[in-house]
Amino acid sequence: MVWRLQSDRNQLPLLLLRLLCLLPTGLPVRSVDFNRSTDNITVRQGDTAVLRCYIEDRSSKVAWLNRSGIIFAGQDKWSLDPRVELDKRSVLEYSLRIQKVDVYDEGPYTCSVQTQHHTKTTQVYLIVQVPPKISNISADITVNEGSNVTLVCIANGRPDPIITWRHLNPTAREFEGEEEFLDIQGITREQSGKYECKAANEVASADVKQVRVTVNYPPIITESKSIEAFAGKQAYLRCEASAEPKPDFEWYKDDTRLSSAQGLEIKNMGNRSTLMVANVTEEHYGNYTCVAANKLGVTNTSLYLYKRVIPTKPIPASERGSNAHFKHKGPGTAIVDNGSPNLAASIWLMVTSLLSLICKC
Ligand SMILES: *[C@@H]1O[C@H](CO)[C@@H](O)[C@H](O)[C@H]1NC(C)=O
Ligand SMILES: *[C@@H]1O[C@H](CO)[C@@H](O)[C@H](O)[C@H]1NC(C)=O
Ligand SMILES: *[C@@H]1O[C@H](CO)[C@@H](O)[C@H](O)[C@H]1NC(C)=O
Ligand SMILES: *[C@@H]1O[C@H](CO)[C@@H](O)[C@H](O)[C@H]1NC(C)=O
Ligand SMILES: *[C@@H]1O[C@H](CO)[C@@H](O)[C@H](O)[C@H]1NC(C)=O
Ligand SMILES: *[C@@H]1O[C@H](CO)[C@@H](O)[C@H](O)[C@H]1NC(C)=O
Ligand SMILES: *[C@@H]1O[C@H](CO)[C@@H](O)[C@H](O)[C@H]1NC(C)=O
Ligand SMILES: *[C@@H]1O[C@H](CO)[C@@H](O)[C@H](O)[C@H]1NC(C)=O
Ligand SMILES: *[C@@H]1O[C@H](CO)[C@@H](O)[C@H](O)[C@H]1NC(C)=O
Repeated sequence: MVWRLQSDRNQLPLLLLRLLCLLPTGLPVRSVDFNRSTDNITVRQGDTAVLRCYIEDRSSKVAWLNRSGIIFAGQDKWSLDPRVELDKRSVLEYSLRIQKVDVYDEGPYTCSVQTQHHTKTTQVYLIVQVPPKISNISADITVNEGSNVTLVCIANGRPDPIITWRHLNPTAREFEGEEEFLDIQGITREQSGKYECKAANEVASADVKQVRVTVNYPPIITESKSIEAFAGKQAYLRCEASAEPKPDFEWYKDDTRLSSAQGLEIKNMGNRSTLMVANVTEEHYGNYTCVAANKLGVTNTSLYLYKRVIPTKPIPASERGSNAHFKHKGPGTAIVDNGSPNLAASIWLMVTSLLSLICKC
């Protein structure tokens, strides 16, 4: 059985040794030096620890003690723990092997060797390390802009892991001096996205988990353009808004709400909306309003559908003066249509300069 005495902890091994008759009764306690430099043995949780101890001759009386009890006295196992056994690779070795080490095994272990003349103790301090592990992190949340937000990340490990936070998108910015709790006061839409909690200690690679923060805000219209359209053709009016949650769109022509009917088609795709006019006629021209709304607000913008008239051909600046003349020149116009107004211009300049030279002669 294991001894469990609730007396002064530091005196316990001495007491036990006396009980085992391993210490000569006459010997003053001070001669057993428990204050010798202690070796630390560092083992990861789940691994096997071997605490080494050697004896000088086979007649020595030996024992292994835990903080709270005798583990082995000679070859007799006192501990009930099946994970504990002696490791004797030679007759003079008296090492202790502990399998599947756990955190409660951490502490001092004493190997006591008593020969006829003196008692020697070896003390080993077993340190149990545990890789970092995040045990709890805030669930994904949705808040309104301006709210105060606190994210929580709880991690275990030995030594205690260091916890850091990062805002992943768009900048992957690290937060200074934050630990389990990340406080964001008056959150903005730019602060929405994924946050990463990292728990790190020197034992193993860091544990990382993420939490998504969605920040709701009212719509703002980011794109809308007035356009020109030919009568008898199709026309598309576009409106794009930034909002969270995604906005609902409505279209108005003057004061009339429009719907997908009678040659009109409204298509909403996430943050944008298009109004398609299948066959533009005179009454389609005019002032349209795009309204974007979500539960936090509503906004609108007006855009115009202008009538487009038969285009006039682009005319090079150098030709402005002889406009009428140019229009009647068949070959010149053809070159302009090929998309080379500069070439046409230079040919024209060449011809005119040649003509003027000829005239001077
Ligand atoms: C053990 O060592 C510490 C400092 O290293 C010292 O303060 C203490 O008095 C020592 N204890 C004994 C019993 O020698
Ligand atoms: C053992 O570890 C303790 C704390 O973990 C440290 O103070 C001590 O210096 C270490 N001893 C040796 C011999 O490394
Ligand atoms: C050492 O003592 C502790 C109690 O203090 C006990 O839980 C643990 O199992 C013991 N370790 C071994 C290896 O016997
Ligand atoms: C995680 O933390 C939250 C809030 O602090 C708490 O409500 C929840 O019970 C915790 N979950 C676990 C598994 O500890
Ligand atoms: C957020 O926290 C600040 C400072 O603690 C406080 O003044 C403010 O009222 C809080 N805002 C909300 C919406 O709770
Ligand atoms: C567009 O409308 C005009 C007048 O109503 C009609 O003459 C024309 O055929 C229509 N065009 C198309 C492509 O439907
Ligand atoms: C609209 O959504 C697209 C795709 O989801 C995104 O790339 C774009 O930035 C958004 N625009 C605005 C103004 O939110
Ligand atoms: C279009 O209508 C809106 C609202 O109905 C108005 O504020 C705006 O001035 C109008 N635009 C034009 C060019 O008439
Ligand atoms: C557009 O917004 C203005 C105020 O910003 C409002 O007076 C007007 O009624 C709105 N138009 C529509 C069609 O919602």
